[in-house]
Formats: sequence, structure tokens, C-alpha cells
Amino acid sequence: MPTSTIPGPVAAAGVTALRDLDVRPILARGGEPFPIIVKTASALGPEEALHLIVGFEPVPLYSVLGAAGFASHTEQTPDAYHVYFFRKAWAEPRTAEAADEPAPLLPPVDLDVRGLEPPQPLATIIAKLVELGPGAQLRVRHRREPLLLYDRLAPLGFAARAERQPEGDFVIHIAPAWFVDTGITEQSAIGEIAARYPETIEVFESHKIDYCCGGGATIAGACAGGKAGVGAAELVRELASAIARKKKASRESASESELSTPALIARIVDRHHGYLRKAAPEIVRLAQKVAEVHRERDPRLPALARRVEALFEKIERHLDREEQVLFPALLARGARAAAAGEGSEQVERELAAMLDDHEDVGAGLAEIRTLAGDYRAPEWACPTYRALLDRLAELEGDVHRHVHLENNVLMPRFVRGPDTKTEPGAGGADAPRGGGAP
Ligand SMILES: [Fe+2]
Ligand SMILES: [Fe+2]
Repeated sequence: MPTSTIPGPVAAAGVTALRDLDVRPILARGGEPFPIIVKTASALGPEEALHLIVGFEPVPLYSVLGAAGFASHTEQTPDAYHVYFFRKAWAEPRTAEAADEPAPLLPPVDLDVRGLEPPQPLATIIAKLVELGPGAQLRVRHRREPLLLYDRLAPLGFAARAERQPEGDFVIHIAPAWFVDTGITEQSAIGEIAARYPETIEVFESHKIDYCCGGGATIAGACAGGKAGVGAAELVRELASAIARKKKASRESASESELSTPALIARIVDRHHGYLRKAAPEIVRLAQKVAEVHRERDPRLPALARRVEALFEKIERHLDREEQVLFPALLARGARAAAAGEGSEQVERELAAMLDDHEDVGAGLAEIRTLAGDYRAPEWACPTYRALLDRLAELEGDVHRHVHLENNVLMPRFVRGPDTKTEPGAGGADAPRGGGAP
């Protein structure tokens, strides 16, 4: 089969380019193609498909990559199977769950449809929402309340709230449905928001907005005249982000423990290893630049840059070892064999090495946090310095989540718990660690 041909069903899903990967030579050498398959799939662009060429039908891959958000199409030729993997998110209509996934809220966009004749207002509003994407907010001036519009919004993941104006027109506020459900508007009382969504407290604190004694004030009132240093619309967006982050984290932690081991590993590699490899060069560059420019003002900055670089070198080696040795060994062994107590020295050795690496990385991050003043920017900090601190805080959060998955979700599937009757030495690896060290 000529590798440049995109099969009809794949092209119909919007794919315009293929990345060919023939894993038959790897398998012939007795190698493990899984890491390179996952790596290639996770690097796919929005219109690309992975074209995997393999000597047998790779059935387990369908569920592994399926759980990581890929759809597939398979064709057989006399000498091989050709499996095409492409991202589901844009190839298929959004599922109810995906529609419920909170996207970051965009600033409200004004739209005046009072001069248009039906059905133009409805079509214009829908077109604008599709153009702006899932986090869109619209403030639409309309001659009447557009009752027909409301039913059209739900399948797109949006909802609306109408406000009659003194002159008889309407302002229709359209926003993602999950956000409209929170009931938060610029007229909401701060104390009520903080009580209902405790995750918003840190937002109020960051702007020194009183959510206790002064909690009766509305968002608009608290932001009036620039006294909070943030506009009401911007504050609403920050509150929405805090709520969205919390929703996402609780959904993910509930679903991760349900994932099969191959799907869990695919998620770790795709999401967390992918993030680290992408973030590393940018963070190192920012740290070096900030050290170069501001070393006089803060003599800790060159040490910070060196520690950041050393940390990423350590992380890179760790990711390679997991992808090339540990994960293939875990997949080959299977959780069931582990639960039955069938030992594997290699798995035990690699898990112990993984834990040691995690402790090292945790210690490195703690040092970096201290050198970076707990990621609080000094007043004189330039935008580059602030960007560095943001990225470092984000890095720390991602690594904590990543290590939690490996130590507390993945590893317990392969080690016997303290309540089993097996000799402690037989299992090799320690009981899962994880709470304290990242
Ligand atoms: Fe990892
Ligand atoms: Fe790890």
C-alpha cells in the first residue's frame, strides 16, 4: 500500500497528513514498539494521523489509544495491518461529557442583532459562538427574547440568561452551560460565591478582596472605580477558571483509578511526559534570561537557573527510563500476574528506581521553590520574571499530579499491599510512597 494514500474514512474525519511508523523491524529485533507508538501519537497535529504498519492486528492498542482520545481505522494487506490513529476530539461530534468539560472562559464579546430580520439574529449568534469556541461569552442586544435560540444552544454546550432593558430591548448573556449553572454574574454577592465555591477564595485573596466581613458586596461593587485593581469581567473569568480547575481535577481523579493499566500509562505518557518535554526548553530559557538580567538585584537567580537545568536533565533521563524499560515491563507483566504474586525482578527493580527518582525530583522542586521565593514575584519583577514564576508553579503542580498517578494509582497494581501474607522481601519494591514526596 503506498504510504502517502489517506484512506477514505480517515480523510473523511478531516485528516490531511500521515505520519508513517513501521514497527515490524522493531518487533523483529525483539524490541518494544509501545513507547515510540505513544510518542508519535501524542505528537500528532490536529489534522494528522499516525499510520502504523504492523505484522498482526494490534488489538490492545485500540483501547490504549482510544482512552487517550484517539479514534482508529484498520486496513489489511497481504503483508501487514495498516492502522490509522487520529484525534477523536475533532473527528467526532462532542460527547455529552466533552461538552461538559469546562473550557477557559473568554472575555465577553458584544453583538448587536437588533437591525437584523429573523432568522438572521439566530444564525449570527450561533456562527459567532462556533467561531469563538467552547469558552465563548456573548452579550447580545436583541429586540425580543429569542426563545428559539435557547434550544439551539444546549447541544453546543452553551446556555443563556435574558435581561430586559428599561427601553424594552433585551440583553442576552450567553456563556458555557457549566458556567451559567454556577449562577455567577457581576451582580453576585462575593460572600455567597466564596461559601458555595471555596476554590474561589484564593482568587479573592490574590486581589485583597474581602470575602468575609465585606462579603455582601457584589463583584461589580467590589471592582468599581478600579479599587480592586481588576475589572469585574476579568474577576468573573478568574473565578470561573478556579471553579473549572476544581471540576476538572475531581473528574480526573475519579476517572483515573478506573482506567485500565495500558490506558493509565498512555495517559501518563501523553499528558505528563508530553507536558514536561514541551515545557522544559522554555522554562530553562526563561530562567537563564532572568538570571542574566537580574542577577545583581537578586543573587539567588543564577543558582535558580542552574537548579532548573539540572532538574530537567534528571527528569529527561527518568522519562526515558520509564518509557523504555518500566512501562513496557509493566505492560508485559500485566496487573493480574502481579496481584497473584508472580514476581518479576525487573519490575521490582524499576519500580524502586522510579520511587528514588521521584524523591530526587521532589527535593529538586522544593529547592527551586525556595530559591524562587515561593513563586511570589517581587514588586520590581519584569514580565519575563513573572512568566518564569508562573511556569515553575505550573511545573510543580503537574509533577505532583504525575507522580501521584505513578506512585498511588499505577504502582499499587504491581506491588502487594501490607495486608497480604507474602513475605515482605519477595515483592522487592517498597509499599507505595507518595503523599509527601512528589
Ligand atoms: Fe512518568
Ligand atoms: Fe515518574
